[in-house]
Amino acid sequence: MKAVVYQGPRKVSVEEVPDARIEDPNDVVVRITTTNICGSDLHMYEGRTGVEEGKVLGHENMGVVEAVGDAVRQFKAGDRVSVPFNIGCGSCRNCLTGWSSFCTRMNPTEGMDGAAYGYANMGPYDGGQAEYLRVPFADFNLLSLPEGDEHENDFTMLSDIFPTGWHGVELSGFQVGDRVAVFGGGPVGLMAAHSAMIRGASQVFVVDRQPDRLRLAEKIGATPVDFSQGDPVQQLLDATDGLGVDRGVEAVGYQAHDHSGEEHPELVLDNLVASVRTTGGIGVVGVYVPEDPGASSDLAKEGRIPWQYGQFFTKGQSMGTGQAPVKRYNRQLRDLIVAGRATPGWIVSHELGLDEAPDGYAHFDAREDGWTKVLLHPSA
Ligand SMILES: NC(=O)c1ccc[n+]([C@@H]2O[C@H](COP(=O)([O-])OP(=O)(O)OC[C@H]3O[C@@H](n4cnc5c(N)ncnc54)[C@H](O)[C@@H]3O)[C@@H](O)[C@H]2O)c1
Ligand SMILES: [Zn+2]
Ligand SMILES: [Zn+2]
Repeated sequence: MKAVVYQGPRKVSVEEVPDARIEDPNDVVVRITTTNICGSDLHMYEGRTGVEEGKVLGHENMGVVEAVGDAVRQFKAGDRVSVPFNIGCGSCRNCLTGWSSFCTRMNPTEGMDGAAYGYANMGPYDGGQAEYLRVPFADFNLLSLPEGDEHENDFTMLSDIFPTGWHGVELSGFQVGDRVAVFGGGPVGLMAAHSAMIRGASQVFVVDRQPDRLRLAEKIGATPVDFSQGDPVQQLLDATDGLGVDRGVEAVGYQAHDHSGEEHPELVLDNLVASVRTTGGIGVVGVYVPEDPGASSDLAKEGRIPWQYGQFFTKGQSMGTGQAPVKRYNRQLRDLIVAGRATPGWIVSHELGLDEAPDGYAHFDAREDGWTKVLLHPSA
């Protein structure tokens, strides 16, 4: 089968690789209809992770069941499914308590709980930027979708960014009527903004410097804050009578940069502490890593990021972090899509065939104007 393979910094190619197949009775093989390129893939693409060359990428997958293992009960060939990016065993303590993103069993990497498809340090699993994908513990991991091809571009957001944006809002301690500032207007940040609006925020701000992303934020009724035009903290304080917002969502991650493009891993955390009110909450879904060999400072190379912890404590704020447990939200979000209450597909800017993936990566990585979210359709 054909698949997108990591070949080294800023190099991916479409290669012939061994077919995905049933390896365990609990497996399903999914024929991929849509698989997305994610901002998380760019950390690998830019050579800022330890991902090995030859890895098949892709953790945002959906498609149709092609083959089922003998122990699978709930799915059969032909079923349309969304595949959460997390791979859970379904029976460890974290899976049983709704934290499938920290499954203690599926990731053999020393010191790491939580597994995913096609991702650095998240276990030996191939990704789904390919014609087929092997899904372990399919009864636990897969989500059923209505048959047909309706809502394909909305449903494809259920594997990661829509639940992740929702989780960022959840981790912030959000309550109806809150004012929310989302840092990062990439796909995850825009999904956090979409989630906060659906959940009844009184006002949502989206901070970024990319005009196309800020335009999209405005289109869904959020207030854009352009950090290239002045200190975003001051802009947020000015817009909230000096009080600050109730909740903040971090949707940028450790490659946060200033308006000149220089990286400062602590920048967004500091901005959040300064712009969220006392006793307010911060949800961090932007990724931070325990080791970043490509970082510019020795501290950051070890994952140590000096940030305004003193101010954070003094303001009595709270913070939640980590990979999103997609399963906790994807059923409800699917039903909001079916009911027409959520339409995350508005974020899609490009739909490409698998062969065009290298081009898609390059444009999306350059944050080129208009390249907000790239979908690949392997069977097209
Ligand atoms: N926790 C999870 O489960 C999970 C899931 C998916 C993605 N992620 C992570 O979420 C983050 C965002 O993902 P994405 O797909 O939207 O990525 P992206 O790279 O497309 O978007 C990041 C955005 O942040 C903006 N940005 C950079 N510095 C900024 C600053 N100082 N202030 C405000 N905005 C700034 C960039 O201009 C860009 O638009 C990444 O770190 C990704 O790895 C986490
Ligand atoms: Zn993703
Ligand atoms: Zn588990």
